[in-house]
Amino acid sequence: MHFQDLIEKKRDGGTLTPEEIEVLVQGIVSGQVPDYQISAWAMAVYFQGMSKEETLNLTIAMSKSGDIMDLSGIQGIPVDKHSTGGVGDKTTLVAIPLAAAAGVPVAKMSGRGLGHTGGTIDKLESIPGFQVEKTLPEVIQQVNRVKAAIISQMGNLVPADKKLYAIRDVTATVDSIPLIASSVMSKKLASGAQGIVLDVKVGRGAFMKSLDQARELAQTMVAIGQGAGRKVVAVLSDMNQPLGRTIGNALEVREAIDTLQGKGPKDLEELSVLLAAHMVHIGGLVGTLEEALLKVKKLLQSGAGFQAFQRMVEAQGGHLDYARPHYGLPRAAEIADVIIPHEGYISAIDALAVGRIVMRLGAGRERLEDQILPEVGVELHKKVGDKVERNDVVATIYARNKNQLDQAAAEIRQAFTLTETPPQPVPLIFDTIT
Ligand code: URA
Repeated sequence: MHFQDLIEKKRDGGTLTPEEIEVLVQGIVSGQVPDYQISAWAMAVYFQGMSKEETLNLTIAMSKSGDIMDLSGIQGIPVDKHSTGGVGDKTTLVAIPLAAAAGVPVAKMSGRGLGHTGGTIDKLESIPGFQVEKTLPEVIQQVNRVKAAIISQMGNLVPADKKLYAIRDVTATVDSIPLIASSVMSKKLASGAQGIVLDVKVGRGAFMKSLDQARELAQTMVAIGQGAGRKVVAVLSDMNQPLGRTIGNALEVREAIDTLQGKGPKDLEELSVLLAAHMVHIGGLVGTLEEALLKVKKLLQSGAGFQAFQRMVEAQGGHLDYARPHYGLPRAAEIADVIIPHEGYISAIDALAVGRIVMRLGAGRERLEDQILPEVGVELHKKVGDKVERNDVVATIYARNKNQLDQAAAEIRQAFTLTETPPQPVPLIFDTIT
């Protein structure tokens, strides 16, 4: 079978057989197929799409292209959580300790920031001493002891995706639902969890700009997971404005700790509680989602979720001082407030713009080799729907030097849209796909 026959078949709208998919994935991983043929195939998929079955077969073949994490040594049913990427999205840092406190074992592999979106590993590395690299036996031992571990990707997991994603990134073929779904789900399947809770972000700061696209992606990923014998649920949540009030690694860890102590912003708390409840439900610890929600809310109120967070941080070598206001996290050298000189209602805070500003402050990478500055970022004092009076402080900028501070302050003002009348309330959660 020649690779160009597979390209031709896809170009003409055909459906690849499982054997053909196998050849395709082997060709990608072995390095025998040149990049230009892989890109031609990806572009054919971009235009022709893939059937449900074909997408499932591609995902399974990709998931087996490298190492598979064997979590059978973990006591209980391991459940994972994944976000498609957002701005100010620190739900993992809140939801995982809550699920762990309920008794759900979580061995989660997280990523670093991508473009304007943040990554959990970069956030956790702002905790002094926190180790994101562990061996599989160490992870299993930690999860059996404290129920949760969050680590960076280990081993040679899904090399087919590494290769394909790098090609898609530079050939305008990232934006394809079957390719995104197979990329995300192949990594989740290889990570070994039996249950997977997906948070599919929708809006300005997300990959999926429209609710229809996001729903289709969520349905595709849920179908793949179920086809592969896993329990999967997807929540569709808003990413038009940043989630919570902070964007930037140490600031987000601080906000997650505040939230676990019942002092966090409402949107972050609501979404984290819902995601944790889905984890508890599909982990089989309770019979209904309602019971799971009640359980998780109690664990938040009692501080049990916060204790689970502390145990995980300690198990991974992190040192925090919870008695201090900033918990011993790194603090920025330059801090300044941003005011808005007129009054009105905030009708939008552009999550994409805020994500890019914070990335340029140094919280993310423009190039792979860029070094992350854990202390920089933005804190929002107002959210969509809030009223502002003349000269109200709407945000605080945390920067490493004065130049960066002044530039970010000017830019952040532009991310706010004010109107004379209050905007229509936007839901935080649009839908749930099971
Ligand atoms: N995240 C992934 O892991 N893969 C994609 O294709 C898009 C987002």
